[in-house]
Amino acid sequence: MPTHLVILAAGKGTRMRSTRPKVLHTAAGLPLIEHVLRAGDALAPESTVVVVGYQAADVQGGLAKRLGLRFASQEPQLGTGHALLQAEPFLPAGSGTVVLLSGDVPLLRPQTLVGLVRRHAAARAAMTVLSAEVDRPDGYGRIVRNRGSIAAIVEHKDATGDERRIREINSGIYAFDLPPLFEALRQIGSANAQGEFYLPDLVRIYRGRGMTVETLVLDDPREILGVNSRSELAEVAMILKSTKNDELMASGVTLADPATAFIGPDVVIGADTVIQPGVYIEGRTRIGSGCQIHSGVRIVDSVIGDGVVINNFCVITESSVDNGARIGPFAHIRPQSEVAVDAHVGNFVELKKTRIGRGSKANHLSYLGDATIGERVNVGAGTITCNYDGAAKHPTVIEDGAFIGSDTQLIAPVRVGRGAYVAAGSSITEDVPPEALAISRGKQVNKEGWVAKKKSRA
Ligand code: UD1
Ligand code: CA
Repeated sequence: MPTHLVILAAGKGTRMRSTRPKVLHTAAGLPLIEHVLRAGDALAPESTVVVVGYQAADVQGGLAKRLGLRFASQEPQLGTGHALLQAEPFLPAGSGTVVLLSGDVPLLRPQTLVGLVRRHAAARAAMTVLSAEVDRPDGYGRIVRNRGSIAAIVEHKDATGDERRIREINSGIYAFDLPPLFEALRQIGSANAQGEFYLPDLVRIYRGRGMTVETLVLDDPREILGVNSRSELAEVAMILKSTKNDELMASGVTLADPATAFIGPDVVIGADTVIQPGVYIEGRTRIGSGCQIHSGVRIVDSVIGDGVVINNFCVITESSVDNGARIGPFAHIRPQSEVAVDAHVGNFVELKKTRIGRGSKANHLSYLGDATIGERVNVGAGTITCNYDGAAKHPTVIEDGAFIGSDTQLIAPVRVGRGAYVAAGSSITEDVPPEALAISRGKQVNKEGWVAKKKSRA
């Protein structure tokens, strides 16, 4: 049977006190709603409808990279029952299962959704509610049972004293049988404490018609934590982080201080790599085995080989660092750079769109931009590629085995041939032939006794 996903994301999220829609706030580097969509992927849905309302255009824009989504608009926002009704025109007629998720409940595991749909199908239910037992049920809808079976869901604000003592709560996540759903939704009224059309009222409607309503009670209620405030956002981010860190440690990665290792959900790290405190590894980064990543390092969307040492306080973005290379401390490797096997990039060296070949070294105080550097090259301290003339960027090529003396400016476009030497302090504007020595600096003049003469004049 086809499964359709509906995600509610029309609410305002008042308690976030933000100009940004709540579902676009990020935890572990991904928008909250992206976490929800990923869990939903496990169901291989035939269609996915996101119900948007408050700041709809921003939410839609924030999801632009996700293909195949359809957006239903809910204006004004009259409650969760009214919200689901807006998805009707986007869903086909005929048999199927609708799974409803909230855009602000990001910890939901894919297996849980699979279990929910399985339970729903096995029971041939009209509706299956995901619930959980919690210690502090305040604010949630309560599951009211009658001789074991679910009879109704009562919202906190409408609940009696007895009902408020119920600790089984509604997660706001459900599976529905498609054919009876929308007709039944239209029967929901708004005569309640909040004057809203409550989706959970469907339980009472279906039970009144003698239809089957099933529940699936979660083992770990943390999974359905919703984000309504910045502190809940932090709590959720912390749980996502420690889940990822536990997986990494189980697979053989050492985290010196898991509390301060911020590693995104899509990051892959090989065994015996050691991550020191205060490290950020983000996006689609892949790190090999046996690496050392020291404190204060941030790596984004990059590929790091095996046995690489990244010393303290380096930033590496959209670049690759191959096996055995050493980086930092205080190196900045900007997008489209490549550091080859066994190369060294030392302190206060910035690379931009630059390749450094096997075994080459740029160890101190350099800017290397739009440069292609061969193998076994030595780039002296303070070397600068002057790649920008104010209008366009120009390339620098340094061939294998060349030696660039300290404090050299390479004024691009320029090429230093294989095995050539550039004398320290040179400004190189012309290509240097292979095996040549290029020197371009004023000749030194020593004026003997100059200091004594100056003093006698004074
Ligand atoms: C809802 C449930 C409650 C459950 C809780 C779990 C209702 C009436 N109550 O309460 O039983 O315990 O979730 O977290 O459903 N939304 C819209 N349009 C609207 C209203 C809400 O899209 O008109 C969206 C919100 O953006 C949010 C979700 O629906 O993603 C839940 O709405 P919210 O107002 O947070 O419901 P709760 O009061 O938390
Ligand atoms: Ca909520």
